[in-house]
Amino acid sequence: MNRRQFLTTSLAAAGSAALIHHGLSASYAPGAEGLLVPAADLGNAHFPSNFLWGTATASYQVEGAWKEDGKGESIWDRFAHTTGKVKGGDTGDVACDSYNRYKEDIAIMKQLNMKSCRFSIAWTRIQPTGTGEVNQKGLDFYSRFVDSLLAANIRPMCTVFHWDLPQALEDQGGWPNRDLYKHFADYAGIVAKHLGDRVNTWAIFNEPWVFTNLGYYLGIHAPGKKDYKLFLKAAHTVNLAQGEAFRAMKAASSKAPSQIGSAYSMSPPEPATESEADKAAADRYHAINNVFFLETAIHGRYPKAFVTDEAHEVMAIQPGDDKIMQVPLDWVGINYYNRHIISNNPDDKWTGFKDEMPTVGPITYMGWEVWPKGIYDIVTRISKEYNRPIIEITENGCSYLDGPLPEDPSRVPDPRRTEYYQGHLAELARAIKDGADVRGYHAWSLLDNYEWAEGYSQRFGLVYVDFRDQKRTIKDSGHWYGKVAAANRLDV
Ligand code: NOJ
Repeated sequence: MNRRQFLTTSLAAAGSAALIHHGLSASYAPGAEGLLVPAADLGNAHFPSNFLWGTATASYQVEGAWKEDGKGESIWDRFAHTTGKVKGGDTGDVACDSYNRYKEDIAIMKQLNMKSCRFSIAWTRIQPTGTGEVNQKGLDFYSRFVDSLLAANIRPMCTVFHWDLPQALEDQGGWPNRDLYKHFADYAGIVAKHLGDRVNTWAIFNEPWVFTNLGYYLGIHAPGKKDYKLFLKAAHTVNLAQGEAFRAMKAASSKAPSQIGSAYSMSPPEPATESEADKAAADRYHAINNVFFLETAIHGRYPKAFVTDEAHEVMAIQPGDDKIMQVPLDWVGINYYNRHIISNNPDDKWTGFKDEMPTVGPITYMGWEVWPKGIYDIVTRISKEYNRPIIEITENGCSYLDGPLPEDPSRVPDPRRTEYYQGHLAELARAIKDGADVRGYHAWSLLDNYEWAEGYSQRFGLVYVDFRDQKRTIKDSGHWYGKVAAANRLDV
């Protein structure tokens, strides 16, 4: 099941929450079993003393300025400009205008005591057609951005690719075209060379499963293709690109040691029943959806639970590819949003499973179940399976539509978001207590922004953005999170 199906099937359940603009819905029960943390327990959550509290954004979702200063067209520019692809016809042409307002955004991060800022670079600002000449103005923008972060004492964590592939490369076949892995490594080397003296922490890819699957199989994200074989081919190129980029970036950032990982979407799968068939299906889900791009880096092979001869044939794996894919990532990024219930499904020729979103917990406006324990489950599982790697939570967050109070527009009360973060952070602290080496946490997102195919109909920000005049207003959850970051505790 995909995001949009989640949204549709969960809408009835989400209705009560969605319709209430301020405050809690009737079905929302803080402290309900397995869900949200009773206030008294918040004090028991501990974080390491140098824990990095941060926020995350991505270029296309916040920057706007889609053709300023020599920027080329990306697949998201093309997709959003195509009628019928995005809800409401929304585009990222202006988004939060952060290309021009980044100083204001960084001032807000500083006011909220943030220690880390995860942002992404638009490939089309650096190489407008994806290869060849470097666009100096694009590099200069990110250079100014990084300098401003450092001046505010905030660590830049830079994602090299958050989905906005140059359209010119899509015209050559996009990610299913194996040639892209070398082009990507060239681009990654360029940004590491120019920013690597100041940026030490890099995420090569953001959610590779999502952009290959939703972009080339489900067709609901750019470039909107619908063929499982294209997904498999794209995934293999991305795996090669991850390895090649890692080496190019290490070689280019000679001045300072770089810490290079990737940010993966991960959801703990729960077998629908105790049957062996459902358990095996859940393992296949984990293999394909969670670690398909991690196992390849760490071990140079595709996960054992997902081995079909036909898939391997489609991916056209060549001798020596294992060596290209395998790199000792310095850290693992986890984007956690929800859990999934998995059952065996022989009718799905490729995966052999059926994937459902439970609705036991409260449902956010996105239609996603709130399930804090899931972050504990996935972080401890990855920690165990990959020999206790350094982990950063690169994203976690929720969409609710709460807006400024009519009687006091400087206030945005959004208690459901605060409780969401309390729950997830308490579970994350428990994972740390149980041995996971988690160094940082990034709330998705700093700002309400462009939610891909959902356009501006979703609001994930700690900061409310009025898209009519770009006014930013820190929500109550943002003020709370700022206090947490300052105190390094949840009972604030
Ligand atoms: C994952 C993606 O990385 C981000 O771009 C998106 O906005 C959030 N999840 C919420 O869906």
